[in-house]
Amino acid sequence: MENFTFYTPTKYVFGRGAECKVAELSSQAGWKHVMIVYGGNSAIRSGLLDRVKDSLGSIGISFIELGGIKPNPTDDKVYEGIELARKERIDALIAVGGGSVIDTAKAIACGVPYDGDFWDFYAGKKTVTEALPVGVVLTIPAAGSEGSGNSVITRIDGLHKISLRTESALRPRFACLNPELTYTLPPYQTASGIADMMVHIMERYFTPTSEVEVTDRLCEGLLKAIIAEAPKVMAEPDNYDARANIMWSGTLAHNGVCGCGRREDWSSHFLEHELSAVYGVTHGAGLAVVTPAWMTFVARTNPSKIAQFGRSVFDIKATDDMTAALEGIEALRAFFNSIGLPISMTALGIDNPDIPLLVRKLHENKGERIGGYMSLGAAETAEIYRIATDF
Ligand code: NZQ
Ligand code: ZN
Repeated sequence: MENFTFYTPTKYVFGRGAECKVAELSSQAGWKHVMIVYGGNSAIRSGLLDRVKDSLGSIGISFIELGGIKPNPTDDKVYEGIELARKERIDALIAVGGGSVIDTAKAIACGVPYDGDFWDFYAGKKTVTEALPVGVVLTIPAAGSEGSGNSVITRIDGLHKISLRTESALRPRFACLNPELTYTLPPYQTASGIADMMVHIMERYFTPTSEVEVTDRLCEGLLKAIIAEAPKVMAEPDNYDARANIMWSGTLAHNGVCGCGRREDWSSHFLEHELSAVYGVTHGAGLAVVTPAWMTFVARTNPSKIAQFGRSVFDIKATDDMTAALEGIEALRAFFNSIGLPISMTALGIDNPDIPLLVRKLHENKGERIGGYMSLGAAETAEIYRIATDF
């Protein structure tokens, strides 16, 4: 196991009515004037936005609003938010939504106190040392941004989708997690969220680091729990306990606990980010296509951990590593398919992907080589996109 520092300052408030704690949590933090950030209409339709506003208003916390954040969020809303936040001199941001809303709030949070262009942080030119605090009311278990220090934004000019990673500067101050708020999710979003959280665990699970038994068992246990609960939330969207288990899994998948002391991979995410940047696909659905393709490619030369995944997560019995790996990949695809996710590029809506473009952008954005489990250059990433296309 490698040395590590693990710090998660986020206060999680979990359960029915958790969103009603926003005012109390904001007041404890000393916030007096906040910006509420939200997406399309889901939080308005459900009445959630009004409940959050009422809660803040009831104890005299004033607020301004920035709505209309779209999935795969773009830099234009961040610039708009930074300007508004500076003009209004807000103390903090409250994100009401999923990863796209939270990531936009985080980008505004680090952009406001910075003299230059907020994109400098995403382009790797500057490190975030200062940011406004962010609170979260989560409405979709998926991206894990409610507990992560990361923010993923797409620069419209050139369609660069970049993940900014911070140790703790952008971790939310608090996250209110009420599973009931997820009852209204469309099935495709529920399923895509499940794929995303599974792959967050797998990106950490596929490691070259040895002797990491504790985090291996955490990863395997979480994956098995998600696989058991997923059919329940798909069949019964208002099954509280199943929704609760999925929601907490989504947070644990990406708040860092599963990655302590081990090198992580992240190739599947990097490969997918180009698909959502160029073709606008839902992130988790893109992962359901790309991750099994990545696993197929690495299993050809390095099957041991993929085989362990097959045996431990899907109870594959094969003793030979290559067979166990391939059967595990098929079991994963069958699972994604069973919850209504695409498992081919065509099913994802991309009939004829422009692989040279995807590969060029990928390595422009993420460097010449990617991957912690197996290092991949342009020839290898092109082959993975081909495997995903030909499947
Ligand atoms: O915009 P509204 O109307 O709210 O609709 C949203 C949106 O269309 C809808 N939705 C959310 N909660 C709902 C709901 N509809 C009905 N009822 C509810 N309770 O769901 C759609 C998707 O929302 P979005 O926020 O985009 O989903 P998600 O949480 O999957 O976030 C995806 C973004 O997060 C990034 C992804 O790349 C993508 O841009 N990621 C962020 C990470 C991070 N910050 O740590 C890590 C991830 O790997 C990921 O890359
Ligand atoms: Zn993800």
